[in-house]
Amino acid sequence: MAPVATTTTADIAPAPVKPQTQTQVADPGKSRLNGPMKYNGLLDSYKHHEVTPAIGREFASDLQLSALLSSSNADELVRDLAVLVSRRGVVFFRGQDISPDDMMVLARRIGELSGRPAESNMCIHPVSEYTPELVHTPKTQMISAERQNKGGGIRRIHDDLSRWASVAWHSDVSFENVPSDYSMLKVNILPEAGGDTLWVDAYGVLDRMSPSFVEYLETLTAEHNAEFFHQEAENLGLKVRDDIERGNPLNKGSSLIAHHPIIRTNPVTGWKALFVNRGFTHRIDDVTKDESDMILNYLNQICIHNMDLQCRFRWEKGSVALWDNRCTWHSATFDYSEERRGDRASSLGEKPYLDPSSMRKSEGLRQEGNKW
Ligand code: SIN
Repeated sequence: MAPVATTTTADIAPAPVKPQTQTQVADPGKSRLNGPMKYNGLLDSYKHHEVTPAIGREFASDLQLSALLSSSNADELVRDLAVLVSRRGVVFFRGQDISPDDMMVLARRIGELSGRPAESNMCIHPVSEYTPELVHTPKTQMISAERQNKGGGIRRIHDDLSRWASVAWHSDVSFENVPSDYSMLKVNILPEAGGDTLWVDAYGVLDRMSPSFVEYLETLTAEHNAEFFHQEAENLGLKVRDDIERGNPLNKGSSLIAHHPIIRTNPVTGWKALFVNRGFTHRIDDVTKDESDMILNYLNQICIHNMDLQCRFRWEKGSVALWDNRCTWHSATFDYSEERRGDRASSLGEKPYLDPSSMRKSEGLRQEGNKW
Protein backbone atom coordinates (compact mmCIF):
# COMPACT_ATOMS: atom_id res chain seq x y z
CA MET A 1 0.00 0.00 0.00
CA ALA A 2 1.53 3.30 -1.03
CA PRO A 3 1.62 6.12 1.51
CA VAL A 4 -1.40 8.37 1.13
CA ALA A 5 -1.04 12.11 1.04
CA THR A 6 -3.80 13.67 3.09
CA THR A 7 -3.83 15.10 6.59
CA THR A 8 -0.94 14.94 9.07
CA THR A 9 -0.96 14.55 12.84
CA ALA A 10 -0.77 18.32 13.13
CA ASP A 11 -4.42 18.29 12.12
CA ILE A 12 -5.45 16.52 15.32
CA ALA A 13 -6.66 19.09 17.80
CA PRO A 14 -4.54 18.63 20.94
CA ALA A 15 -6.14 16.83 23.88
CA PRO A 16 -6.77 19.15 26.82
CA VAL A 17 -3.78 19.19 29.13
CA LYS A 18 -5.80 19.30 32.36
CA PRO A 19 -8.66 16.94 33.09
CA GLN A 20 -11.88 18.83 32.32
CA THR A 21 -15.07 18.79 34.29
CA GLN A 22 -18.16 17.80 32.37
CA THR A 23 -19.50 21.37 32.24
CA GLN A 24 -16.31 22.56 30.48
CA VAL A 25 -16.58 19.93 27.76
CA ALA A 26 -18.25 21.34 24.64
CA ASP A 27 -18.90 18.05 22.89
CA PRO A 28 -17.62 14.87 24.51
CA GLY A 29 -18.55 12.87 21.42
CA LYS A 30 -16.63 14.84 18.79
CA SER A 31 -13.52 13.52 17.06
CA ARG A 32 -10.46 15.77 17.34
CA LEU A 33 -9.52 15.15 13.70
CA ASN A 34 -9.85 17.97 11.21
CA GLY A 35 -9.53 15.66 8.23
CA PRO A 36 -8.51 12.13 7.22
CA MET A 37 -5.12 10.84 8.36
CA LYS A 38 -2.17 9.92 6.19
CA TYR A 39 -0.80 6.36 6.11
CA ASN A 40 2.98 6.61 6.12
CA GLY A 41 3.68 2.96 5.30
CA LEU A 42 5.84 2.44 8.42
CA LEU A 43 4.58 -1.12 8.91
CA ASP A 44 4.99 -2.24 5.31
CA SER A 45 8.53 -3.51 5.88
CA TYR A 46 7.28 -6.28 8.21
CA LYS A 47 6.31 -9.59 6.64
CA HIS A 48 2.63 -9.43 5.73
CA HIS A 49 -0.06 -10.25 3.20
CA GLU A 50 -3.48 -8.81 2.43
CA VAL A 51 -6.10 -11.38 3.48
CA THR A 52 -8.57 -10.52 0.71
CA PRO A 53 -8.63 -7.56 -1.67
CA ALA A 54 -11.51 -6.01 0.33
CA ILE A 55 -10.54 -6.56 3.94
CA GLY A 56 -7.80 -7.70 6.30
CA ARG A 57 -4.04 -7.71 6.50
CA GLU A 58 -2.03 -10.38 8.35
CA PHE A 59 1.42 -9.85 9.85
CA ALA A 60 3.86 -12.62 10.76
CA SER A 61 5.50 -12.74 14.18
CA ASP A 62 8.50 -10.57 13.17
CA LEU A 63 6.14 -7.72 14.05
CA GLN A 64 5.60 -7.84 17.82
CA LEU A 65 2.99 -5.40 19.13
CA SER A 66 4.86 -5.32 22.45
CA ALA A 67 8.00 -4.15 20.61
CA LEU A 68 6.10 -1.41 18.75
CA LEU A 69 5.06 -0.01 22.12
CA SER A 70 8.63 0.17 23.42
CA SER A 71 10.20 1.53 20.18
CA SER A 72 11.81 4.95 20.23
CA ASN A 73 9.28 6.05 17.58
CA ALA A 74 6.33 4.24 19.20
CA ASP A 75 3.88 7.09 18.62
CA GLU A 76 4.59 7.22 14.89
CA LEU A 77 4.27 3.44 14.58
CA VAL A 78 1.09 3.18 16.63
CA ARG A 79 -0.43 6.11 14.75
CA ASP A 80 0.29 4.38 11.43
CA LEU A 81 -1.16 1.16 12.84
CA ALA A 82 -4.43 2.99 13.60
CA VAL A 83 -4.63 4.30 10.04
CA LEU A 84 -3.84 0.88 8.59
CA VAL A 85 -6.56 -0.79 10.68
CA SER A 86 -9.12 1.85 9.67
CA ARG A 87 -8.23 1.32 6.00
CA ARG A 88 -8.12 -2.51 5.99
CA GLY A 89 -10.94 -2.96 8.56
CA VAL A 90 -9.10 -5.65 10.50
CA VAL A 91 -5.42 -6.52 10.95
CA PHE A 92 -4.13 -9.85 12.29
CA PHE A 93 -0.86 -10.55 14.10
CA ARG A 94 0.53 -14.07 14.60
CA GLY A 95 2.67 -15.33 17.48
CA GLN A 96 2.31 -12.32 19.77
CA ASP A 97 3.72 -12.06 23.29
CA ILE A 98 1.74 -8.94 24.29
CA SER A 99 0.31 -9.03 27.86
CA PRO A 100 -3.27 -8.02 28.75
CA ASP A 101 -1.95 -4.85 30.42
CA ASP A 102 -0.01 -3.87 27.30
CA MET A 103 -3.08 -4.61 25.16
CA MET A 104 -4.84 -1.93 27.19
CA VAL A 105 -1.93 0.50 26.78
CA LEU A 106 -1.83 -0.10 23.03
CA ALA A 107 -5.60 0.14 22.60
CA ARG A 108 -5.60 3.43 24.49
CA ARG A 109 -2.73 4.90 22.43
CA ILE A 110 -4.27 3.88 19.10
CA GLY A 111 -7.38 5.94 19.81
CA GLU A 112 -5.50 8.87 21.32
CA LEU A 113 -3.17 9.09 18.32
CA SER A 114 -6.05 8.92 15.85
CA GLY A 115 -8.01 11.81 17.30
CA ARG A 116 -10.66 10.21 19.46
CA PRO A 117 -12.49 12.72 21.73
CA ALA A 118 -10.43 13.45 24.82
CA GLU A 119 -13.42 12.32 26.91
CA SER A 120 -13.50 8.84 25.33
CA ASN A 121 -11.77 6.15 27.29
CA MET A 122 -11.64 2.38 27.31
CA CYS A 123 -14.98 0.66 26.84
CA ILE A 124 -16.77 -0.55 29.95
CA HIS A 125 -19.25 -3.15 28.79
CA PRO A 126 -22.66 -2.85 30.49
CA VAL A 127 -22.38 -6.45 31.63
CA SER A 128 -18.87 -6.15 33.09
CA GLU A 129 -17.89 -7.69 36.38
CA TYR A 130 -18.86 -5.41 39.25
CA THR A 131 -15.48 -4.21 40.48
CA PRO A 132 -15.16 -0.66 41.85
CA GLU A 133 -11.60 -0.25 40.55
CA LEU A 134 -12.88 -0.74 36.97
CA VAL A 135 -13.84 2.93 36.79
CA HIS A 136 -10.26 4.12 37.15
CA THR A 137 -8.30 1.29 35.59
CA PRO A 138 -10.46 -0.66 33.16
CA LYS A 139 -9.10 -4.13 32.49
CA THR A 140 -9.32 -6.27 29.41
CA GLN A 141 -12.73 -7.91 29.04
CA MET A 142 -12.94 -11.69 29.10
CA ILE A 143 -14.43 -13.46 26.09
CA SER A 144 -15.66 -16.83 27.29
CA ALA A 145 -17.65 -19.68 25.81
CA GLU A 146 -18.70 -20.64 29.33
CA ARG A 147 -20.47 -17.29 29.69
CA GLN A 148 -22.14 -17.66 26.28
CA ASN A 149 -23.45 -21.05 27.37
CA LYS A 150 -25.07 -19.48 30.45
CA GLY A 151 -27.05 -17.16 28.16
CA GLY A 152 -24.47 -14.40 27.91
CA GLY A 153 -23.38 -12.61 24.74
CA ILE A 154 -25.08 -11.85 21.49
CA ARG A 155 -26.19 -15.45 20.86
CA ARG A 156 -28.72 -15.21 23.71
CA ILE A 157 -29.19 -18.95 23.78
CA HIS A 158 -32.13 -18.80 26.21
CA ASP A 159 -34.12 -16.37 24.02
CA ASP A 160 -36.51 -17.16 21.20
CA LEU A 161 -34.09 -16.10 18.48
CA SER A 162 -32.86 -17.43 15.15
CA ARG A 163 -30.23 -20.13 15.64
CA TRP A 164 -28.51 -19.25 12.37
CA ALA A 165 -24.87 -18.37 12.86
CA SER A 166 -25.43 -15.05 11.07
CA VAL A 167 -27.48 -13.75 14.01
CA ALA A 168 -24.26 -12.88 15.84
CA TRP A 169 -22.85 -10.36 13.32
CA HIS A 170 -22.35 -7.04 15.11
CA SER A 171 -20.23 -3.98 15.72
CA ASP A 172 -19.04 -3.62 19.34
CA VAL A 173 -21.34 -1.69 21.71
CA SER A 174 -23.13 0.10 18.86
CA PHE A 175 -26.04 0.53 21.32
CA GLU A 176 -24.02 3.16 23.20
CA ASN A 177 -24.26 6.87 22.26
CA VAL A 178 -20.51 6.76 21.80
CA PRO A 179 -19.67 3.28 20.47
CA SER A 180 -16.32 1.58 20.05
CA ASP A 181 -13.71 2.71 17.55
CA TYR A 182 -11.11 -0.08 17.88
CA SER A 183 -11.23 -3.54 19.47
CA MET A 184 -8.33 -5.91 20.03
CA LEU A 185 -8.72 -9.58 20.85
CA LYS A 186 -6.19 -12.23 21.81
CA VAL A 187 -7.64 -15.72 22.20
CA ASN A 188 -5.70 -17.72 24.79
CA ILE A 189 -7.69 -20.92 25.14
CA LEU A 190 -8.71 -22.47 21.84
CA PRO A 191 -10.90 -25.40 20.89
CA GLU A 192 -9.15 -28.14 18.89
CA ALA A 193 -10.99 -26.90 15.81
CA GLY A 194 -13.54 -24.13 15.23
CA GLY A 195 -14.17 -20.79 16.93
CA ASP A 196 -13.02 -18.79 13.89
CA THR A 197 -14.05 -15.14 13.67
CA LEU A 198 -15.37 -13.43 10.52
CA TRP A 199 -15.37 -9.76 9.54
CA VAL A 200 -17.22 -7.93 6.77
CA ASP A 201 -16.17 -4.71 5.06
CA ALA A 202 -18.94 -2.18 5.79
CA TYR A 203 -17.33 0.38 3.46
CA GLY A 204 -17.44 -2.03 0.54
CA VAL A 205 -21.11 -2.98 0.95
CA LEU A 206 -22.05 0.53 -0.20
CA ASP A 207 -20.79 -0.40 -3.67
CA ARG A 208 -23.41 -3.18 -3.85
CA MET A 209 -26.23 -0.62 -3.71
CA SER A 210 -27.33 1.94 -6.27
CA PRO A 211 -26.10 5.48 -5.53
CA SER A 212 -29.67 6.77 -5.19
CA PHE A 213 -30.46 4.12 -2.56
CA VAL A 214 -27.31 5.03 -0.60
CA GLU A 215 -28.39 8.68 -0.87
CA TYR A 216 -31.73 7.71 0.68
CA LEU A 217 -30.01 5.75 3.46
CA GLU A 218 -27.93 8.84 4.20
CA THR A 219 -31.13 10.62 5.30
CA LEU A 220 -31.97 7.93 7.89
CA THR A 221 -31.06 7.01 11.42
CA ALA A 222 -31.66 3.71 13.19
CA GLU A 223 -32.12 2.48 16.72
CA HIS A 224 -29.42 0.21 18.17
CA ASN A 225 -30.89 -1.65 21.11
CA ALA A 226 -29.25 -3.96 23.67
CA GLU A 227 -31.92 -3.89 26.36
CA PHE A 228 -31.60 -7.69 26.40
CA PHE A 229 -28.43 -7.20 28.43
CA HIS A 230 -30.61 -6.47 31.49
CA GLN A 231 -31.87 -10.05 31.29
CA GLU A 232 -28.39 -11.36 30.54
CA ALA A 233 -26.98 -9.60 33.59
CA GLU A 234 -29.66 -11.28 35.69
CA ASN A 235 -28.81 -14.69 34.17
CA LEU A 236 -25.18 -14.17 35.13
CA GLY A 237 -25.93 -12.84 38.62
CA LEU A 238 -24.63 -9.38 37.65
CA LYS A 239 -26.17 -5.93 37.29
CA VAL A 240 -26.00 -3.65 34.24
CA ARG A 241 -23.33 -1.00 34.84
CA ASP A 242 -25.64 1.99 35.23
CA ASP A 243 -23.71 3.30 38.23
CA ILE A 244 -20.80 4.77 36.21
CA GLU A 245 -20.02 6.46 32.91
CA ARG A 246 -19.22 3.59 30.58
CA GLY A 247 -16.11 5.15 29.05
CA ASN A 248 -17.63 8.47 27.91
CA PRO A 249 -19.90 11.02 29.65
CA LEU A 250 -22.56 10.29 27.00
CA ASN A 251 -22.68 6.57 27.92
CA LYS A 252 -24.48 6.39 31.24
CA GLY A 253 -27.73 5.29 32.81
CA SER A 254 -29.65 2.08 32.43
CA SER A 255 -30.95 2.61 28.88
CA LEU A 256 -28.97 0.58 26.35
CA ILE A 257 -30.47 2.23 23.28
CA ALA A 258 -28.88 4.73 20.89
CA HIS A 259 -29.87 6.28 17.56
CA HIS A 260 -27.17 6.59 14.91
CA PRO A 261 -26.96 7.58 11.23
CA ILE A 262 -27.28 4.52 8.97
CA ILE A 263 -24.29 5.71 6.98
CA ARG A 264 -21.43 7.15 9.02
CA THR A 265 -18.08 8.69 8.24
CA ASN A 266 -14.92 7.14 9.64
CA PRO A 267 -12.92 10.24 10.61
CA VAL A 268 -9.58 8.42 10.27
CA THR A 269 -10.02 7.55 6.57
CA GLY A 270 -12.74 10.04 5.64
CA TRP A 271 -14.64 7.14 4.00
CA LYS A 272 -18.26 6.34 4.66
CA ALA A 273 -19.58 3.00 5.86
CA LEU A 274 -22.85 1.23 6.58
CA PHE A 275 -23.57 1.50 10.29
CA VAL A 276 -26.37 -0.87 11.18
CA ASN A 277 -25.73 -4.44 12.29
CA ARG A 278 -27.63 -7.66 12.71
CA GLY A 279 -27.12 -8.01 16.46
CA PHE A 280 -28.23 -4.61 17.72
CA THR A 281 -30.16 -2.76 14.97
CA HIS A 282 -33.80 -3.80 14.69
CA ARG A 283 -35.61 -0.57 13.83
CA ILE A 284 -35.04 2.28 11.38
CA ASP A 285 -36.42 5.56 12.74
CA ASP A 286 -39.31 7.49 11.17
CA VAL A 287 -40.40 4.88 8.63
CA THR A 288 -43.11 2.25 9.01
CA LYS A 289 -42.20 -1.05 10.69
CA ASP A 290 -42.70 -2.85 7.36
CA GLU A 291 -40.30 -0.51 5.59
CA SER A 292 -37.83 -0.80 8.46
CA ASP A 293 -37.99 -4.63 8.38
CA MET A 294 -37.55 -4.75 4.60
CA ILE A 295 -34.64 -2.33 4.49
CA LEU A 296 -32.82 -3.90 7.44
CA ASN A 297 -33.35 -7.35 5.99
CA TYR A 298 -31.86 -6.15 2.69
CA LEU A 299 -28.86 -4.53 4.41
CA ASN A 300 -28.24 -7.67 6.48
CA GLN A 301 -28.43 -9.84 3.36
CA ILE A 302 -25.89 -7.66 1.56
CA CYS A 303 -23.41 -8.12 4.39
CA ILE A 304 -24.09 -11.79 4.96
CA HIS A 305 -24.13 -12.99 1.33
CA ASN A 306 -21.22 -11.06 -0.21
CA MET A 307 -18.38 -13.38 0.79
CA ASP A 308 -15.94 -11.35 -1.31
CA LEU A 309 -16.36 -8.57 1.27
CA GLN A 310 -15.61 -10.91 4.18
CA CYS A 311 -12.60 -12.57 5.71
CA ARG A 312 -12.37 -15.43 8.17
CA PHE A 313 -9.61 -15.81 10.73
CA ARG A 314 -8.42 -19.12 12.15
CA TRP A 315 -6.94 -18.42 15.57
CA GLU A 316 -3.68 -19.92 16.78
CA LYS A 317 -2.08 -19.51 20.18
CA GLY A 318 -0.67 -15.98 20.33
CA SER A 319 -2.83 -14.58 17.52
CA VAL A 320 -4.20 -11.07 17.92
CA ALA A 321 -6.90 -9.35 15.84
CA LEU A 322 -7.30 -5.58 15.85
CA TRP A 323 -10.32 -4.09 14.08
CA ASP A 324 -12.21 -0.86 13.49
CA ASN A 325 -15.85 -1.16 14.56
CA ARG A 326 -16.86 1.91 12.53
CA CYS A 327 -16.34 0.17 9.21
CA THR A 328 -16.72 -3.57 9.91
CA TRP A 329 -19.08 -6.09 11.44
CA HIS A 330 -17.71 -9.25 13.02
CA SER A 331 -19.01 -12.54 14.28
CA ALA A 332 -17.46 -15.39 16.22
CA THR A 333 -18.40 -18.90 15.07
CA PHE A 334 -19.95 -21.05 17.80
CA ASP A 335 -19.16 -24.46 16.35
CA TYR A 336 -17.24 -26.05 19.24
CA SER A 337 -18.07 -27.43 22.66
CA GLU A 338 -14.83 -26.87 24.59
CA GLU A 339 -13.83 -23.69 26.41
CA ARG A 340 -12.62 -20.79 24.27
CA ARG A 341 -11.34 -17.80 26.16
CA GLY A 342 -9.59 -14.57 25.33
CA ASP A 343 -8.79 -11.02 26.40
CA ARG A 344 -10.41 -8.11 24.62
CA ALA A 345 -9.43 -4.45 24.84
CA SER A 346 -12.05 -2.16 23.30
CA SER A 347 -11.94 1.59 23.26
CA LEU A 348 -14.56 4.23 22.56
CA GLY A 349 -14.35 6.64 19.65
CA GLU A 350 -16.61 9.50 18.60
CA LYS A 351 -20.39 9.81 18.41
CA PRO A 352 -21.27 8.55 14.91
CA TYR A 353 -21.87 11.29 12.33
CA LEU A 354 -22.13 11.59 8.57
CA ASP A 355 -20.04 14.15 6.77
CA PRO A 356 -21.96 14.61 3.49
CA SER A 357 -18.72 15.25 1.63
CA SER A 358 -17.17 11.92 2.62
CA MET A 359 -16.40 9.39 -0.11
CA ARG A 360 -16.92 5.69 -0.59
CA LYS A 361 -13.76 3.65 -0.03
CA SER A 362 -13.66 2.70 -3.71
CA GLU A 363 -13.72 6.38 -4.74
CA GLY A 364 -11.09 7.27 -2.15
CA LEU A 365 -8.75 4.50 -3.29
CA ARG A 366 -9.23 5.48 -6.94
CA GLN A 367 -8.32 9.09 -6.16
CA GLU A 368 -5.21 7.98 -4.27
CA GLY A 369 -4.22 5.53 -6.98
CA ASN A 370 -4.08 2.69 -4.43
CA LYS A 371 -5.38 -0.86 -4.73
CA TRP A 372 -6.12 -1.07 -0.96
C1 SIN B 1 -16.59 -10.27 19.83
O1 SIN B 1 -17.65 -10.66 19.38
O2 SIN B 1 -16.44 -9.08 20.15
C2 SIN B 1 -15.45 -11.24 19.98
C3 SIN B 1 -15.22 -12.06 18.79
C4 SIN B 1 -14.73 -13.44 19.10
O3 SIN B 1 -14.96 -13.97 20.21
O4 SIN B 1 -14.11 -14.03 18.21
